[in-house]
Amino acid sequence: MVLLDGYALARLKEEALRQEVRTLQETRHICPKLVVVLVGTDDASVLYVHMKAKACARVGIDCVLETLPEQTPQAELLNLLERYNHDTSVHGILVQLPLPKHVDTRRVIEAIAPHKDVDGFHPLNVGRVYSNSLYTGFLPATAMGIMQLLEHYKIEVKGKDVAIVGASNIIGKPLASLMLNAGATISLCHILTKDISLYTKNADIVCIGVGQPKLLKAHMVKEGAVVVDIGINKVKGKVIGDADFEGLKSKVSFITPVPKGVGPMTIVCLLQNTLYAAKGCA
Ligand code: GUN
Repeated sequence: MVLLDGYALARLKEEALRQEVRTLQETRHICPKLVVVLVGTDDASVLYVHMKAKACARVGIDCVLETLPEQTPQAELLNLLERYNHDTSVHGILVQLPLPKHVDTRRVIEAIAPHKDVDGFHPLNVGRVYSNSLYTGFLPATAMGIMQLLEHYKIEVKGKDVAIVGASNIIGKPLASLMLNAGATISLCHILTKDISLYTKNADIVCIGVGQPKLLKAHMVKEGAVVVDIGINKVKGKVIGDADFEGLKSKVSFITPVPKGVGPMTIVCLLQNTLYAAKGCA
């Protein structure tokens, strides 16, 4: 079994990004700037947002953290986004999800200018990925990070059977699009799927991100499968994934650890998207 070391790959990619950011400043006097908006105080969101801000600092991206109270009216949030849409010094805008219940998430996502939507959640960017447009604006960071991780370890996707467990707009659906575009055959399982093992057992690559600790067991995958664990669960003070790592490790060919697997790749891909926006490519 080989560990898919997302932490090490993310460090390598950060090093390259740091150089690129410096070159952009020296040659075009552009300092990439990302605005991260956090509404409320959800523990996981606070943690993720600070991890993103710290990663920006490591590569020289200017990160502005806008923290708003839980009760912030939707109109106020939309006004803030409108202001940053028009601020030419800002290249990327990200609103951390989930948002409080009184806010219409779709309305907020659609209020971000598509060329600043570094999460790739705006319908225009979703559509570009879905239709495999040659001009792909922003790829959603987690899906992009998984593709880069597989590519780094020379794990071919073309022609493979891939089971994705979790069909969210943030992870499962964009991942299915990227995998399909890369020539894989996809099974996209979700909360109503009667028996996910029917799909995972036959898959060459299994990607799981549903927020259920150790859901994927050894008997649910075939010998030599590749397992990509997107889950982040806190159990008894420890962070564990959706895959039963200990049970799976002697059966699979490759597996991501949690932590230090997909998570660091997500963050470095957000930085890549921000640099892409700053270069004026989006
Ligand atoms: N919440 C969980 N993952 C993400 C993400 O990738 N982007 C945003 N904006 N919110 C999230």
